[in-house]
Amino acid sequence: MTAVILGATGYTGMVLMRILADHPEIDSIVPVSHSSAGTPVTDVDPGLGSAIAAKLVTTGGRLVAIDDAAPDAADVVFSALPHGASADIAGPLAGRVPIIDLSADFRLADPSLYQTVYGAPHPHPDLLARSVYGLTEWYREDVRTADVIANPGCYPTATLLPLLPFVDVIRFPVIVNALSGISGAGRKETRDLLFNERSENMNAYNPGRAHRHVPEIEQALRIPPGAPQTASVVFTPHLVPVKQGMIVTTVAELSQPLSQQEAADRLATVYADEPFVRLSPRAVPQSRDVRSTNRCDIAVKVLESDSRLMLFSAIDNLYKGAAGQAVQNMNVRLGIPEATGLRIHGEF
Ligand SMILES: NC(=O)c1ccc[n+]([C@@H]2O[C@H](COP(=O)([O-])OP(=O)(O)OC[C@H]3O[C@@H](n4cnc5c(N)ncnc54)[C@H](OP(=O)(O)O)[C@@H]3O)[C@@H](O)[C@H]2O)c1
Repeated sequence: MTAVILGATGYTGMVLMRILADHPEIDSIVPVSHSSAGTPVTDVDPGLGSAIAAKLVTTGGRLVAIDDAAPDAADVVFSALPHGASADIAGPLAGRVPIIDLSADFRLADPSLYQTVYGAPHPHPDLLARSVYGLTEWYREDVRTADVIANPGCYPTATLLPLLPFVDVIRFPVIVNALSGISGAGRKETRDLLFNERSENMNAYNPGRAHRHVPEIEQALRIPPGAPQTASVVFTPHLVPVKQGMIVTTVAELSQPLSQQEAADRLATVYADEPFVRLSPRAVPQSRDVRSTNRCDIAVKVLESDSRLMLFSAIDNLYKGAAGQAVQNMNVRLGIPEATGLRIHGEF
């Protein structure tokens, strides 16, 4: 099978290249670049192993422009582009080849909400009805036939996986605090992302309701049975000086009694057959346990005397939070066993 990657030189594109290089069902990769077409892939990404060469035969080992990528002839197109550009470039392919969009362009069902959050009219509002939210564990059946799979954001993935099983037993708003590695901001040259600015330094940013992932999280929280239509979050992300990785802590008030055992059993039941969501063997998961894997580790603590639920999760923002989940969705969409080509062993 052939996979086209739009934005192959960005962080999530580079991780897609690595996962697909080792994927047994992908025999051809077409890496697309806006700014570096014609350049050998290994010049812009020297860390790639030589095994990739066998999968780059059709492009002669080089990055290509979109006009030379023949996306219609591919089995799948990954769009690892910034929002706006992603819908502009990948949108017209919808219906001709399955699209897995890592950007935010097809995540929000309401185009007016998109305009409010992203500051521009949606480039293809007509495609929103043909898009499904690709949080695989919750929307697997929709993903199987979708024209456009809107891969979730990293913060929403790590927030929603432990929280969705509890929407019927908690009061909203819930308090969500998240810590992210620097690669979550993409591979751009920005003063705020310089080593001297980020090393030995941590800060909250866009606190409360200001982060663009808040509407995405709230939209997903309002869908499961028993979820209130007013479900909301107070969300505060923090930037911490690690390259990749993300942890999320959520605190919610319980609306009915729930014991520690009942809460743990609920998570164990919901995710019993899921290869990529694990109840952490630790009381609280750590980022290194999931680094470079497609796994989300979760844990729960019930403060019974306070009627509070605490949820913890850890993902790698570039894998389960982006490229890994995108390949998980590709596997489902193309009828490949879901765990194919995806790592589950973390670091120590
Ligand atoms: N980083 C994360 O942890 C993460 C997690 C979840 C989702 N995402 C989303 O995934 C997408 C990619 O993120 P990223 O971190 O990989 O970003 P990135 O490192 O900044 O890479 C994006 C790539 O898109 C290409 N590009 C930029 N502007 C373009 C334009 N106007 N037209 C065509 N191509 C353009 C660039 O490659 P060329 O110039 O070579 O074409 C660039 O390398 C974003 O929408 C992001 O929000 C990121």
